[in-house]
Amino acid sequence: MAQDVKITIIDREGVSHEVEAPTDMNMNIMELVRAYELAPEGTIGICGGMAMCASCQCYVLNDVTLPEKSDDEEAMLSEAFNVKDNSRLGCQLHITKALEGLKLELAPE
Ligand code: FES
Repeated sequence: MAQDVKITIIDREGVSHEVEAPTDMNMNIMELVRAYELAPEGTIGICGGMAMCASCQCYVLNDVTLPEKSDDEEAMLSEAFNVKDNSRLGCQLHITKALEGLKLELAPE
């Protein structure tokens, strides 16, 4: 569909999934991972997308330009485990056309 973008997500087992992500449903990456069941229930999205749990942390693997981190996202990532330079919170990444081709890896639980 024209409204979809392709996003590649490597799950916590190292398996790569190329998924179609709708840009017209006001979804974020955390919700996308849940919708495709790429992480077990209860291991992602614990705070409901409020940038308060870091269970949706992922690593950005390619140079697709993403929106800047908000102060809330910065603050959460400064306290989370396994944070790398390319860490983002999936729940803070809204799916838009700009995310076409994005490749992500889910951070460990
Ligand atoms: S779902 Fe909790 S920080 Fe993203």
